Amino acid sequence: MPKSRELLDLPIGESAAIAEVGLQREPVFTAPELSIIVPTFNECENVPVLVDRLRKALPGVAWEMIIVDDDSPDGTADVARTIGASDARIRCLRRVGRRGLSGACLEGMLASQARYAAVMDADLQHDERLLLPMLAKLRSDEVDVVIGTRYAQGGGADTFSTGRKWISLLATRIANKVLGLKLSDPLSGFFMLRRNVVETYARKLSTHGFKILLDIVSTAGKSLRLAELPYQFRARQRGTSKLDTRIALDYAGLLLAKATSDLLSLRFVFFCLVGSVGIGVHFITLSIGVAVIGLSFPWAQTLAIVVAIANNFALNNAITYRDQRLTGVNYFTGLLMFYVVSSIGALSNMSVGNWLFGHEQTWWVAGLGGAIMSVVWNYVVSSLMVWRSR
Ligand code: GDD
Ligand code: MN
Repeated sequence: MPKSRELLDLPIGESAAIAEVGLQREPVFTAPELSIIVPTFNECENVPVLVDRLRKALPGVAWEMIIVDDDSPDGTADVARTIGASDARIRCLRRVGRRGLSGACLEGMLASQARYAAVMDADLQHDERLLLPMLAKLRSDEVDVVIGTRYAQGGGADTFSTGRKWISLLATRIANKVLGLKLSDPLSGFFMLRRNVVETYARKLSTHGFKILLDIVSTAGKSLRLAELPYQFRARQRGTSKLDTRIALDYAGLLLAKATSDLLSLRFVFFCLVGSVGIGVHFITLSIGVAVIGLSFPWAQTLAIVVAIANNFALNNAITYRDQRLTGVNYFTGLLMFYVVSSIGALSNMSVGNWLFGHEQTWWVAGLGGAIMSVVWNYVVSSLMVWRSR
């Protein structure tokens, strides 16, 4: 079929090649070979410096930079777009209403068309001169992922405080043990890989936390061919680090999920812990009801149930579901719904317990079976009805 005039008359940019398609001449714009994904949150001062350094670090390579910005209040996205206006290699993906380093890296890689993708921080702590050797390793077709490491011969992180150094080494040890890896720096945020690796495992990767590399490597398993290249982790000059306790919790959650093949989530563990606190609250309220207020047992027991459920709701809302906390009117409708869910949970506890007891089980096996039944019910149903992900 003959091609339309418009198509043939397309302007041909510098990077465009001409291919012969049958008898027609058509412009062909090929994707860059390498996408450098740079997650940012409040890095407006660092982005222009990084762009300059990348321009020098990658001579002769067809590369692009995808800045994934979580709507930084300091206007990082505007800075990126201004640079991008005169250099089409600099792109910006602005995410609104969302936060998270891993999710940002994942979306950046999924927005790429390149054969290879690299992830590096915007704060200049990662050495851009490592990109070329990383690319050479991937091109040689021997490996799938090249990891920039601080903890192998030739690497370093002298800028870390002693405290952070120990935490980092401990986290490295735990990661290798739990996940059965042998990496010198599994928590590295600096790496390059064949993009199809991410394409393959994208659905299984977590969007929470900081540990995107660890997640990719442990999800893909033994089939991945890994290489490490040492570099010196530099000190941050401008802006501030975003690593905090919440990130550490997310990390614990990722390890737990991976170590149990996604059976146990940190959320479920927190839910169970809150449940056990609830048992304590129940007994304290019960004894106050009977001994101090002088209520009859059924009334004291009812009071204890009402108080314990409200306590569990408040704690779960503050800890287990801290990332989707209910507030205002939603807090009270959520609490009501939690009462309904928990009441059905208590009924199922009793019926499973009674059933087990009736089938010649000892009292404690029956009791435990009932309790497990109600915890699982409460967890699953409240995650669907009370704190449903929006
Ligand atoms: N889009 C987006 N969203 N970017 C983020 C977010 C977020 O929620 N949080 C942090 N970033 C960006 C920062 O702007 C920076 O470019 C990069 O991610 C790293 O953040 P830092 O806050 O500088 O992290 P760090 O230096 O403490 O941690 C580094 O070392 C860790 C290992 O010790 C990172 O390289 C981590 O990936 C690495 O695991
Ligand atoms: Mn940093």
